[in-house]
Amino acid sequence: MKNRRLLIIDDDPEVRYTLRAALAKEGMEIDEAESGEVGLAQLDEQSYDFVLLDHRLPDTEGIDLLPDIRRRQPHVLAIMMTAYGTRRTAVEAVRRGAHDFFTKPIKLNELRVVMARALERRRLAREGDRLRARGTNEARFGGIIGKSAAMRDVFSTLGKVVAADATVLVLGESGTGKELVAEAIHSQGSRAEGPFVKLNCVAIPQTLLESELFGHEKGAFTGAAERKVGKFELADGGTILLDEIGDMSLETQAKILRVLQEREFERVGGLAPVNVDVRIVAATNRDLAQDVREGKFREDLYFRLNVVTVNLPPLRERPVDIPMLAEHFMREFADRHGKQLEGIAPAAADALCEFHWPGNVRQLRHAVERAVIWSDGKELETDDLPSEVLSGSVVAATALKTGTDDTLPDTMERIERRILIDTLRRAGGVQATAARRLGISERSMWHKVKKHDIDVDRLKG
Ligand SMILES: Nc1ncnc2c1ncn2[C@@H]1O[C@H](COP(=O)(O)OP(=O)(O)OP(=O)(O)O)[C@@H](O)[C@H]1O
Ligand SMILES: [Mg+2]
Repeated sequence: MKNRRLLIIDDDPEVRYTLRAALAKEGMEIDEAESGEVGLAQLDEQSYDFVLLDHRLPDTEGIDLLPDIRRRQPHVLAIMMTAYGTRRTAVEAVRRGAHDFFTKPIKLNELRVVMARALERRRLAREGDRLRARGTNEARFGGIIGKSAAMRDVFSTLGKVVAADATVLVLGESGTGKELVAEAIHSQGSRAEGPFVKLNCVAIPQTLLESELFGHEKGAFTGAAERKVGKFELADGGTILLDEIGDMSLETQAKILRVLQEREFERVGGLAPVNVDVRIVAATNRDLAQDVREGKFREDLYFRLNVVTVNLPPLRERPVDIPMLAEHFMREFADRHGKQLEGIAPAAADALCEFHWPGNVRQLRHAVERAVIWSDGKELETDDLPSEVLSGSVVAATALKTGTDDTLPDTMERIERRILIDTLRRAGGVQATAARRLGISERSMWHKVKKHDIDVDRLKG
């Protein structure tokens, strides 16, 4: 129990005194609140492991406070105390987020056991999740999939850093999985029970960024009608992802640097410093080292962030990951769209591996989703793939691949069919448009569609 933080919310000073006297001896850090309102204000200020909550409070019922407590600190272990305990209230309290339930007069030994058990249970739950995520398959880490040497390196780095609290900088092109890596660092580490807060440094207007990060006091500026808790405070006890960090202004960089160094900041319009315990993960698709050289990114901040770097290579540099990822996404979307798909045809898999994927894994995921929607067989076929994936050379390559014994006319037929399907799909199934693009007459188009037995309706939309 040493160093665990406890908040007692009870209007009876005697109860507070007794609890404090007993639990402080075990090295717990204890705060008191005499009403619901004061209790919630404390929870805004400070992160706790436990809340001991009285049922009858001057301004509210303890049970009604539970959702507010959970919202502020999802990981906190809330224990209800009451002299009027009925079973119904107990069940209701647990339903609303209480971890356990207690009747007064409080027996301290029993309370100690309940608290120790709650901590242990929370620890085991986290451990179990971690083992499950690791044990099943070495070609994945949390939700990240990959078996290329590059991704195995990433997994091994992640395996080492999740347990520690070190700041991690995740680099990679758009769509390579940076956010997924940040989520894995959070969910596989010791802070899994705490909050995971994402902050996109680009999406927020510069003028609001500071208040978004650090919060503001009521009346700090025009429009600040209420006190607002910033992202750093929300992330207390958990992890914050500073996304697109390379696009942050130099001014904001200076402020972030201070939080990284001191784990302390002030709300906008506030005087008292706020302390937080937050793990930081930063991500960007920019070349930060280059930005440092050009003076666009602070060197000192770069060194603070760059404690551990995870480099996600572009998908085109690790094609061995493509079939695995494609199968994974195929199953995901087959479930979602109610399709009976069992696999990906070899020619289609080849086409996926040959494409250069400028949008990386995100683009692959979208392409597979579209293919699943098109598909009406047991396997995803080359025909199901979006046309941009089947770039000219791939069209020819896939056509040529099927059967080396084929005659030239046979092969030409196949290539013609491929090009017709491709163009028709791009034209939304409108034969006149496709004919114009290919420089043939509508009549000729109609004949070819008939000859190749192309189902134009399927290519619409
Ligand atoms: N290795 C992977 N295994 C499974 N899914 C992945 C993998 N990499 C990326 N994804 C999926 O691809 C999509 C894009 O990933 P994510 O949002 O993490 O990319 P990002 O690097 O943050 O991109 P951006 O720079 O555009 O924000 C998500 O749906 C993610 O789940
Ligand atoms: Mg992202």
